[in-house]
Amino acid sequence: MSQDTRYVDPDEIDHNNSANESFQSVLQARLGRRSILRGAIGSAATAVFGGITLSACGGGDDDEQAPLKPLEKLGFSAVAKSLADQVVVPAGYTASVIYALGDPLTATASAYKNDGSDADFDNRAGDHHDGMEYYGLAADGKPDAKASTRGLLVMNHEATSHSGSERASAFVHINGGTNTLPRPATEVDREVPLHGVSVVEVRKNGAAFAYVKDSAFNRRITPLTPVTLSGFAAGSALMKSKFSADGKTARGTLNNCGTGSTPWGTTLTGEENWAGYFTRGAADDVARGNDKSVASLKRYGRNQGAASRHGWETGGADDKYARWDISKKGASADGSDDYRNELNTFGYLVEIDPYSKTSLIKKRTSLGRFAHESAAFSKLVEGKPLAVYMGDDSRGEYIYKWVSAANWAAADANPADRIATGDKYLDAGKLYVAKFNADGTGTWIELAIGNAVIKAATNYAFADQADVVVNARLAADAVGATKMDRPEWCASHPVTGEVYFTLTNNSNRTVATTDAANPRAYDDTKGASTKQSGNVNGHIIRVAEVAGDAAATSFKWDVYLFGAEAGADKGLVNLSSLTEDQDMSSPDGLWFSRASGLCWIQTDDGAFTDKSNCMMLAGIPGSVGDGAKKTLAYTGKSVDTYVGKAPTADTLKRFLVGPVDCEITGCAETPDGKALFVNIQHPGETITSATVSDPAKYLSHWPGNAGYGAGGSNARPRSATIVITKNDGGVIGS
Ligand code: FEO
Ligand code: CA
Ligand code: CA
Repeated sequence: MSQDTRYVDPDEIDHNNSANESFQSVLQARLGRRSILRGAIGSAATAVFGGITLSACGGGDDDEQAPLKPLEKLGFSAVAKSLADQVVVPAGYTASVIYALGDPLTATASAYKNDGSDADFDNRAGDHHDGMEYYGLAADGKPDAKASTRGLLVMNHEATSHSGSERASAFVHINGGTNTLPRPATEVDREVPLHGVSVVEVRKNGAAFAYVKDSAFNRRITPLTPVTLSGFAAGSALMKSKFSADGKTARGTLNNCGTGSTPWGTTLTGEENWAGYFTRGAADDVARGNDKSVASLKRYGRNQGAASRHGWETGGADDKYARWDISKKGASADGSDDYRNELNTFGYLVEIDPYSKTSLIKKRTSLGRFAHESAAFSKLVEGKPLAVYMGDDSRGEYIYKWVSAANWAAADANPADRIATGDKYLDAGKLYVAKFNADGTGTWIELAIGNAVIKAATNYAFADQADVVVNARLAADAVGATKMDRPEWCASHPVTGEVYFTLTNNSNRTVATTDAANPRAYDDTKGASTKQSGNVNGHIIRVAEVAGDAAATSFKWDVYLFGAEAGADKGLVNLSSLTEDQDMSSPDGLWFSRASGLCWIQTDDGAFTDKSNCMMLAGIPGSVGDGAKKTLAYTGKSVDTYVGKAPTADTLKRFLVGPVDCEITGCAETPDGKALFVNIQHPGETITSATVSDPAKYLSHWPGNAGYGAGGSNARPRSATIVITKNDGGVIGS
């Protein structure tokens, strides 16, 4: 969710009280030797453009995906900014809704009435569609990474639409639901499974895609689905609860935001703003004896007395409600008689095999616990470790990297047991956090119990590697990682292997705390008078590992794009010289096509929404170092940063604008690059229980107003997946 005048997720507010440098000291030390460290990548990238093949991105019958043919120029006309309550795509393209909140996923589930009376969301699409991946299916239903006419979408359902001051998810209750405590069990039981993940089959019939209502592959994973803890923290004392005395299992996945697709054909789903769903008693610090768990809870945003987002803990005596109260209540020494440790079981990348309902769902704890967004894999090199890149989305949080202990073996692209392959690459290895230097270099600092700095940390007494990964934020504080402007998604460039991270915005950034990698702090006006401050529009930073080595401990970086309004000051704000066809704010979703090589940028914005609804742009980026050093001259301070080559009309264009009060997120394609799946999250999310009974007060009626489902022009808005195709049948963007 964005930081704006709408609902502000408390989990995204700065809980980072570490003294990590504001970078003024680093700026003093700037060496200005960046040019020495740059140069090779650009020409190398040009040389390999056009005709390489990639290893399979799915565990199919084939061991190679379709060849990558990077587009050298965008072939569509830019879409203008729009405030219309509809999806706008370029001339020559068609966008169709295929899977919306409440759509039935079994042969017997009824059509969604969309009037607040539907229940049984275990058998329906969840809410707030988010990150998404596509997995091909052959005609016989076997996995086929090349299949472009039949496949599975794995999709996150992040949250629900509700007013920030209300507890109920208004649109799924007839009269908006109950906002006082206790919450009725029937309402809680309806809201919990709106969260989690869908696996849903899609098929192309003629020119059109549709989802398959009665597919045997269809599946919902919810906050109550049993999962297995894997990696360093599995079985740790930190994980024990009334549900799992041995700390090896847990219940469900929650607030799933970005995704990643593993090279062996599974999905990683990131748990983002999970902390806010739990409540903690007003005197819990003392109840815990003020032990170190209190420091951990505070660092992850749960001070004692914190109220839960929805009040689910009040649904009744059943254990499925009790688990949302993480106060220490029991007499046990190890927490096996209450849910004091429950928060430690959320905040991971969770691995799901989309093709198998019987495979275990595994939380990959070794990759760290934080507000996960997407997971981007390094380019695969036979016989070398692989890396997974990750962002922690809250103001002032960090960028992380995982490096596997195991070396990549091409045979693992098509394994007999996909989750066992995940065990191989995602349980043993090293976790690093990023420090961005003022000279355009950076360092990956290992978060290991053997690291002397972590052993001697004064902010928290780390016991073992389980403690380090469960408290990754505290470990990153201790080693002096760089506080970033809300790291959202990351994605790997399929040719250069460079890794791009969206830094969506940061209302806490001030001129005093600007640094080379987070160099902007300014004021912007929204509408007639609303002033917003900080890094209002966000930017996209990118990283090139030294020698392209996924296991490197140093890197070079620059900023691919700075979000800005076209008319903004080019000296301090519109540093990428964006035009009216390119201007955007709060980049969030980020994804590279493996067919066209295009970089897709999606926004979750509350700053530029007086001029346009949230949008999606296509870019053809160059590489780290293709631009120049730029000095931002503030009053009393100057900051040098590194700005990538300015985009042209051929290399960056707005491709889509969504309906009112939505976020654009989630991007997946068929392997032939001819169908692009995109999620429209929370159209018209600004709603209260008082206004839900009056359709005239809804900000959006999409997709009912586009002819999808019940309700027509008076419909309650629904999050939904759309599929975009080019009318001439070509590759998207060409
Ligand atoms: Fe769910 Fe930070 O976006
Ligand atoms: Ca503005
Ligand atoms: Ca996001």
